[in-house]
Formats: sequence, C-alpha cells, structure tokens
Amino acid sequence: MALIRIPETSRVITGTAPINDFLSEFGIQYENWPVAGRVNADAGAEEILTAYAEEIDQLKERGGYITADVVNVTPDTPNLQAMLDRFNQEHTHAEDEVRFILKGRGIFYIHVNEQPVFAIEIEEGDLINVPAGTKHWFDLCADKTIRAIRLFREQAGWTPLYTGDSIAAGHQPLCLGPNYLRGGVAEVANVAISA
Ligand SMILES: [Fe+2]
Repeated sequence: MALIRIPETSRVITGTAPINDFLSEFGIQYENWPVAGRVNADAGAEEILTAYAEEIDQLKERGGYITADVVNVTPDTPNLQAMLDRFNQEHTHAEDEVRFILKGRGIFYIHVNEQPVFAIEIEEGDLINVPAGTKHWFDLCADKTIRAIRLFREQAGWTPLYTGDSIAAGHQPLCLGPNYLRGGVAEVANVAISA
C-alpha cells in the first residue's frame, strides 16, 4: 500500500481513500491491485502481462496507451546507479508515467508550483499515473529492487525532460516502508546523495 509524505509539514497520508483524496488535486491516479495469488512477481513478462490483461486494456482505453511492458531492476542490474541518476533529478515527460508495481519499492517526489513537495512511496500492488508535464523525480528504496508494468503511448515520450532545478538534491530518498506503520525505523537509500 502506498504512503504519502509531505516533508515540509511532516504529514504522512496512508489508506487508499485519503491518498486518492490528496492526489486527485494533482491529477494523479492511484489504485491498488492484488499481486499475491494473482501472479508470481518473478514470472516472465508475457505471463505477467497476460495475468493483468483486463486491467491493462482498461488503462489503455482510459489513457490512450498503446503498449505495455515489464521492467525489472535489482541490485545486480548493470550500471544501476547511472540508470537511477537519469531519473533522480527533477524532470517531466511528454506523456503520463504509468507504473504498476509487482515487486520492490520506489519513491516519486512530486513538485507542483507553489505547493510543498510531496513523496509517494509505492510498493507491490500499487498503480500510479503521474500525468504528462508533472515535475517529479524517482528513486528506489534501499533494497534497490523494482519489477513493474509500464504503459506507454510511445516509448520516446518517456524520455526525461530535465527542468534544471536542483531541488531533488535537498530530498534524500527516504522510504518509510511497511515498518513505519508498525513503529519501525525509516530507511534511507542515499547512495546517490552521498557518492
Ligand atoms: Fe519520470
């Protein structure tokens, strides 16, 4: 289940309805689809796309997306940090960034003018749609793992368009994680920041 954090006010938002209430102001769509019992998150891409074919078709119809694929990132992914560095600076895209998380965790920071920056932590089962033109950046949590379905109108539209704002440098990729709700300690994936 996703979690929203607003660093400026230390506010944390949990639960599907409160999260949707908050995100709707920014045009961001959020849903949660079960993964456990539906498909093995480590299955091949075709098996995963087939398992979620109905939802993918609905999203394509709703958002005009043409293609879907499955991305897989682990700590062993070649040139992992270089890849993460493409997306952990503030940028926009010419099309929506649509991700359904099968495994692992990541964090989007959203920066809408005149509004406090907020973080959306996503994990297994979370579907998020960051609309085209929304200023944001993304990083993985400490386990550096994510497996996700991506939807595109055209893959070229997903090229990051950097704003040149260094705002991301002031926000460590702090992932509160499932332990947060149990009173545990937050983790910081600060490889990029401390390097
Ligand atoms: Fe992005």
